Amino acid sequence: MSILVTGGTGYIGSHTVVELLNENKEVIIIDNLCNSSKDVLEKIEKITGKKCKFYEADIRDEKALEKIFNENKIESVIHFAGLKGVGESVEIPLEYYDNNVYGTIKLLEAMKKFGCKKIVFSSSATVYGDPGTPKYVEEMGRGKASSPYGATKAVIEEMLENLYASDKEWTISILRYFNPIGAHESGLIGENPNGIPNNLMPYIQKVAAGELKELSVFGNDYDTKDGTGVRDYIHVVDLAIGHVKALEKLTKPGVYIHNLGTGCGYSVLDIVNTFERVNNVKVNYKIAPRRPGDLAMYYADPTKAKKELGWEAKRGIEEMCRDSWNFVKNK
Ligand code: NAD
Ligand code: UD1
Repeated sequence: MSILVTGGTGYIGSHTVVELLNENKEVIIIDNLCNSSKDVLEKIEKITGKKCKFYEADIRDEKALEKIFNENKIESVIHFAGLKGVGESVEIPLEYYDNNVYGTIKLLEAMKKFGCKKIVFSSSATVYGDPGTPKYVEEMGRGKASSPYGATKAVIEEMLENLYASDKEWTISILRYFNPIGAHESGLIGENPNGIPNNLMPYIQKVAAGELKELSVFGNDYDTKDGTGVRDYIHVVDLAIGHVKALEKLTKPGVYIHNLGTGCGYSVLDIVNTFERVNNVKVNYKIAPRRPGDLAMYYADPTKAKKELGWEAKRGIEEMCRDSWNFVKNK
């Protein structure tokens, strides 16, 4: 029996495939390569010494999905495929709904048709909206989405709950990620966005590598310890292991929601300073105005994942900064 990983050549997907192969699972990837490259497959093989089957296809392609389900015995799906640019989603919202929401509908339809009713879904802390308190607990429920991207995650969560209500055979894990950074310790896989990055760590990487002049720190007048924004950064390998644990625990039908974060908040300047210190490089920065839509501070309450999945993040901020830079140096 195999695990189908949608978006498996992407950033979080590739790290999760490595952890699944390390656990001797059979893995099949579907990815349309709109934000990743086929080279990742060789890197995965180099790290694990194991191969996985790859289909270059879009999850919205019904025929392609049927072929995959026909050709393989798929027991469960980990669903990463989707578009993830918060800013971009404001510019092209329909593409986001089409890819993320319609894509998920097509995937769920194919799963249902082939009697595969176990799925782990990549959600985001963004679904909490702005709850008015920095520590996010699963019980707080979903708030108002601050972007079309966030809205697609909230809609998919709701759709999965509706699906379970209609058919109690589904076993559904919703994982709400905080801020994934870092890379595999081998330096072979990591996050490699095209163009000018929007997120903090990819931007820092490019400044440190001399590809961009300086980082703009968006605001230093927030009500936080040094005035800059605070987030819960989580090492991508810890996140990947969280998926393996979630899948292991999916033994009874239901909808299970877990935060995947460390529970620690770090400021933008904490990240810049740690990155400079552990890697012995300079990260030039300037203070810039606040970025519209940003919250001052939030972090996960990771208690539920620890209790129910037996999972907690092990890698600290120094390792996250070191591995992020190691990946860039290795390219
Ligand atoms: P990524 O872009 O690196 O990976 C997504 C992969 O899906 C890519 O390889 C892309 O080519 C593929 N893909 C996109 N649309 C597809 C489609 N229609 N059919 C087939 N393949 C398709 O992104 P990531 O950072 O690895 O994120 C994975 C998932 O986790 C996404 O759903 C994202 O929204 C979610 N997430 C990411 C973060 C983050 O900060 N990285 C945070 C919270 C949630
Ligand atoms: C955003 C999204 C989240 C998504 C994540 C990764 C929201 C509310 N959050 O998180 O859903 O999962 O991206 O795609 O939409 N910063 C700078 N300078 C920069 C870049 C960032 O100072 O050049 C600061 C930000 O102001 C913030 C912190 O760094 O305080 C982290 O920003 P970022 O990496 O973009 O992630 P989030 O905005 O937290």
